[in-house]
Amino acid sequence: MKKVLVTEKISDKGVALLKAQKDLQVDVEMDLTREELLKKIPAYECIVVRSVTKINEEFYKHATNLKVVGRAGNGVDNIEMEGATKRGVIVVNTPESNIISACEHTIGLMLSSCRNTVRAHKMIESRVWDRNGLKGTELYGKTLGIIGLGRIGGLLAIRMHAFGMKIIAFDPYIADARFKKYNVEKCETLDDLLKAADVISIHTPKTAETMNMITYKEWKKCKKGVRVVNCARGGLYNEQDLAKAIKEGIVASAGIDVLVDEPKPISPLIDLPQCVLTPHLGADTTEAQDNVGIAIAEEVIAALRGEMVPNAVNLPALGADELAAVQDYLTLAEDLGKLYYQLHREAVEKVEVIYSGKLAEMETDMITRAAMKGVLEPVLMEHVNYVNALIAADHRGIAITESKENGDQDLLTVKVITKKGEFVASGRVLGRGQVRIAEIDGYQFDVEPTPYMLVANNEDKPGMIGQIGTLLGASKVNIATMQVSRNQKNGIAMMFLTVDSDVPADVLKLLKNVGGITKVNMVKI
Ligand code: NAD
Ligand code: MLT
Repeated sequence: MKKVLVTEKISDKGVALLKAQKDLQVDVEMDLTREELLKKIPAYECIVVRSVTKINEEFYKHATNLKVVGRAGNGVDNIEMEGATKRGVIVVNTPESNIISACEHTIGLMLSSCRNTVRAHKMIESRVWDRNGLKGTELYGKTLGIIGLGRIGGLLAIRMHAFGMKIIAFDPYIADARFKKYNVEKCETLDDLLKAADVISIHTPKTAETMNMITYKEWKKCKKGVRVVNCARGGLYNEQDLAKAIKEGIVASAGIDVLVDEPKPISPLIDLPQCVLTPHLGADTTEAQDNVGIAIAEEVIAALRGEMVPNAVNLPALGADELAAVQDYLTLAEDLGKLYYQLHREAVEKVEVIYSGKLAEMETDMITRAAMKGVLEPVLMEHVNYVNALIAADHRGIAITESKENGDQDLLTVKVITKKGEFVASGRVLGRGQVRIAEIDGYQFDVEPTPYMLVANNEDKPGMIGQIGTLLGASKVNIATMQVSRNQKNGIAMMFLTVDSDVPADVLKLLKNVGGITKVNMVKI
């Protein structure tokens, strides 16, 4: 039974889905103090959080059984990724599930701050009917500057075209095609956007580069009376500087969903009548929370069962289709990697993963990780997975390279290089779920890997197969398949057997003593 701790509000549907899993014990504890959380967490394999729980080095040190962090939402700035990655902890999030809500809230903040709706409402609440001082501005015909044309920025562009706005954007990390796709004019520099925009909305993640991206210096470059929105992360607009720019009339209004010190409501913006503030409500709709809750539940369930998940943040980004396409190659790569330390003993210096044919055009990063996981798993005490396989190799001084070759056939090769020589294993995927080992050290095979396999080298002479078969039969080990491969007559051949059960050590010893057998190894996948 694996234990999951949910520390922040996710939808009832998400919690119900988690609780419906027979192999999970789910505890929802939303009022834990930090001390209580740190005391409890060693018992849990998984934690599900939103943006408040800080998953940092202090947390990881206590979370000794942690395997999965589920971030119910998009931004992962409350999660220290390096600490997770080096410990093999998979971090999953739900980047697509709340973007419509966040985009619609952005538009809501833009409209309400441009039209003073909150101030107007407060006046009516005080039974004052007075339009003086509440005159707003239209969006129609104005220029909207979007900083960060990602998922939410893109959705915003589509919607604001319908308002009759001209849309410009600054995002140095995306291709020109994306600007074209959204019919958005590209700003080469942030300054170009600041100078041209009547309304600015920021949609970048919180990074070292984007924190305090807009300070007083930047506001000074803007058109006087610019309107601004932040429905991304607190602190992207420096709050002190924004307050100053508002007081000086440089910025006419601000719609703000996120604060740098949230969840504490501390900010100079709070007391300014030109600001409309909400407590991080961008994703707080029934639809988004249901989407997020169900998506995060599905992801942590899969991750805890060791399955691949499309939204693993500390793994190469693969969509569901790409993941399905590489899935069998992940199995094959891991199997090929696992052969090495079960057949040889020399310390590994380098692992080269070679992709041939159409396979070379696929997303191969995950496959390389799988090969490395396979190489290390049989000899490491610690947990090696796709997340930490490359780091684990690096810590052991093992270099990893990928090479891609043209070829008529799709072939995956794992070459392990040691001081004494090379071990080469290749394989193919014939169709969905049909993985084959095609070559080991120059010997050709067509073997479907199974949990128990025997690999033997023998002199190529009569009677060898019979002796092995007789010994295994007498020991009640059933042979499922057997293939013999040789490179030259009367040389050294290789036998590859798949068997239905483990071969006991004493039987292996008997096999090794058969005259003409030069080497026998049990291989477990
Ligand atoms: P995304 O990753 O799809 O897009 C972010 C874009 O910002 C990318 O295109 C990236 O290239 C760009 N970018 C990164 N650094 C930049 C820089 N220095 N200058 C300009 N552009 C830069 O993210 P998204 O899903 O669109 O989310 C955007 C933001 O909204 C994130 O901060 C996310 O956490 C936040 N968010 C908030 C809420 C909410 O409740 N308020 C809900 C969802 C998402
Ligand atoms: C997100 O990043 O998904 C949003 O900020 C919403 C949330 O934190 O729940």
